[in-house]
Amino acid sequence: MSIAVKKLDPCSIDSELADIKKPELEIVGSYGPAMRKNFLLNDRYLILNNGSFGTCPKYVIDYAEYYARCSEYNVDRWMELTLRPLIYNSLERIAHYLGVKDSLQLTYLFNTTSGLNTVLRGLTFEEGDIIFKYSTSYNACSNVIKYICETTKAEFVDIQINFPITDEEIVKATRDAIDKVKQDSSKRIRFALIDAVISVPGIVLPYAQLTAEFKKEGALTFIDAAHALGMIEINIDQTGCDYFVTNAYKWFYTKRGCAVFYVANHLKTSTQPLVISHSYKKDCDFNESFLWQGTVDFSTFLSTNAAIDFVEAIGGLNAVLSYCHSLAEQATDLLASKYNFVPLTNEKSQIASFVNMKIPQLEFGNPKHDKVGYAVDRILLAQHNTSGKLYPHNGHWYVRLSAQIFLTLDDFDKYAKLLVKIINQELEKSA
Ligand SMILES: Cc1ncc(COP(=O)(O)O)c(C=O)c1O
Repeated sequence: MSIAVKKLDPCSIDSELADIKKPELEIVGSYGPAMRKNFLLNDRYLILNNGSFGTCPKYVIDYAEYYARCSEYNVDRWMELTLRPLIYNSLERIAHYLGVKDSLQLTYLFNTTSGLNTVLRGLTFEEGDIIFKYSTSYNACSNVIKYICETTKAEFVDIQINFPITDEEIVKATRDAIDKVKQDSSKRIRFALIDAVISVPGIVLPYAQLTAEFKKEGALTFIDAAHALGMIEINIDQTGCDYFVTNAYKWFYTKRGCAVFYVANHLKTSTQPLVISHSYKKDCDFNESFLWQGTVDFSTFLSTNAAIDFVEAIGGLNAVLSYCHSLAEQATDLLASKYNFVPLTNEKSQIASFVNMKIPQLEFGNPKHDKVGYAVDRILLAQHNTSGKLYPHNGHWYVRLSAQIFLTLDDFDKYAKLLVKIINQELEKSA
């Protein structure tokens, strides 16, 4: 899966930029603890929560700073002459990791939430229009749908999925929900929000199959792939969805505030950016209108270039996926055998770089236990410099932990040991 499109050098567009020093890419160590040296992580920080905010290598931070310096050197030349070829080249490069042939269907946004807002707030909804989501949809995204349904005539249907559940059962629950709505001829299946990887539980969904179910009904399909780039293989062209947004900052090592947004060719002229600016036309000029949503520092978007170089220098995306998936699998086994935690799922297709374990010490619904469950993340962070993510799901307390290239099994062991100790301490305090 090695990349073919070469990175465009700013100096090849503006030779005067040769005065600005470029950061060198030097990888220190291999996967595991040595890899930490390539990041700015505090040595005393046990980070098992990469899924929330991502982790950015030093090189990528330095390279974004390089772009920012280039822009300061002569901002008019940068904005008018240099920026656009660099942005389009970087999108062509990232298209390779998204399974998109025509990179003009891609643009940058700051994050996934803005992708969903862009699409839903740009559509008009009529009486009888139904928006589908899942009970596990990300809270911020669910709120966007609630807002739309409170301010237009659309209604939403929540498809319940409680893990453990198989992929076939998820597809069946989806089919049943669609068929139920179809019994009422006044309803129109208009839009579906489908996660590629759910946040909590941290589970991979059969999103291509789910997309196909909604496409059969003529619905617009939006894939919330906030966690996908850098966690699972992606092939947007094959999926055939209408919209797809993935954060690059979570698992693909870019700077925070960098997401890639795909809009299928047939919808490009009808999809306007949230921020209307200079190039507004009734039929949207997709690439320019999305690129220029007012003046911003584009170095965060261009940091995809450095992230790609970083990924390639550490063996390519397949090597990253394979390390993280294997670590997550081993950590699941360790937490089960040593701490009696119970895996949320045993379905291989649902597991990627997240570990999801039921915590036997906490009984959901018991007020004392719930108080501890909701407090533990903060205690671990504030008092022990340690991050993970506890969450209630389907009548139990679970923990979600994130595998990453700078972690080993020992880090999961340390986390679990500390977690059990803190839970027991807190339960004793409230006894
Ligand atoms: C599944 C899912 N969707 C959407 C988001 C929102 O991402 P952002 O905060 O980058 O908009 C997240 C963030 O964690 C997420 O996990």
